[in-house]
Amino acid sequence: RAPEPVYRIGFSQCTAGDAWRQAMRAGMEKELSFHPNVQFEALDAHNSTALQRRQVQALIRQRVDLLIISPNQSGPLTELTEAAYNQGIPVVLLDRRTTSRLYTAYVGGNNLEVGRTAGHYAAQLLHRRGRVVEVLGAPGSSPATDREQGFRQALAAYPGLHLVAQVQGDWLPSSVRQRLPAVLRAHPDVDLIFAHNDPMGRAARQVVQALGLGPRVRIIGVDGLPGPGNGLQLVEDGALNATLLYPTGGEEAIRTALRILAHEPYEKENVLGTMVVDSTNVGTMRTQTEQLAVQRHDLGQQQRRLQAQQRRYASQETTVYLLGAS
Ligand code: FRU
Repeated sequence: RAPEPVYRIGFSQCTAGDAWRQAMRAGMEKELSFHPNVQFEALDAHNSTALQRRQVQALIRQRVDLLIISPNQSGPLTELTEAAYNQGIPVVLLDRRTTSRLYTAYVGGNNLEVGRTAGHYAAQLLHRRGRVVEVLGAPGSSPATDREQGFRQALAAYPGLHLVAQVQGDWLPSSVRQRLPAVLRAHPDVDLIFAHNDPMGRAARQVVQALGLGPRVRIIGVDGLPGPGNGLQLVEDGALNATLLYPTGGEEAIRTALRILAHEPYEKENVLGTMVVDSTNVGTMRTQTEQLAVQRHDLGQQQRRLQAQQRRYASQETTVYLLGAS
């Protein structure tokens, strides 16, 4: 059997510093563990567009075989991703998009749909009447733009629902703790907050409580990660009334990348679904994700054992070979 070719995949990540990105990375590593022929280099831009631009330039200079990128902001990273693509480096956009059609594949959710689903769910929770505040993700990042647009589209169907304010949350709880209090003091009669992700939703709940506005204020988040302090648990604890699942796409991104590199058929648009998780289905959801986590852990252990065995076997082969040669 011919040896598998070595592939160099570069991954430019807008940030690696939150649970969702860590889950994404874990999914990638799981998939990569089946492909020891892949050299994987991940660069963390720490939410800085300027740093991410330099990192992408470095990956292009290294002539990686494929670039996976989650662009911090769409506009400022478009030209570089186009440049990579035009130089023959396949580009997989992961979760966040550029503004260009020049990419090889996209893997991630449909954020217009996420926003719309949040809007319709909000209408249902409030019986079509009420005041809403929206906490936005970082300006210029495609999920923030699309979630906002989708939410607005859905609200337009309910004349009794009013979007009374928007807050720049930058995807970060710290920004919410800083900016939301003033907005809620100006709108103490708010009925619902839609936060573009669960960490901001959690911070919003803390602000609501600190201001003494009480559990009357409903909060919806996005991501729905399992694990302590994450979305599913926040819903179970009642800190969030609901979250919208937003799969990280880590595993799918690696699978797609490998198909592209092996010149196998692949889809250009790999859109992952969403759904509402609230008190009615969070228990089922948690049991399922926990089972999956256990299976993943077992699989990882098996993989490591297998690799150790292969290493032992390989070194035995060389010993036998050396003995034969002497
Ligand atoms: C994590 C995150 C998620 C959000 C996604 C959007 O870095 O902020 O919470 O769903 O990025 O790109």
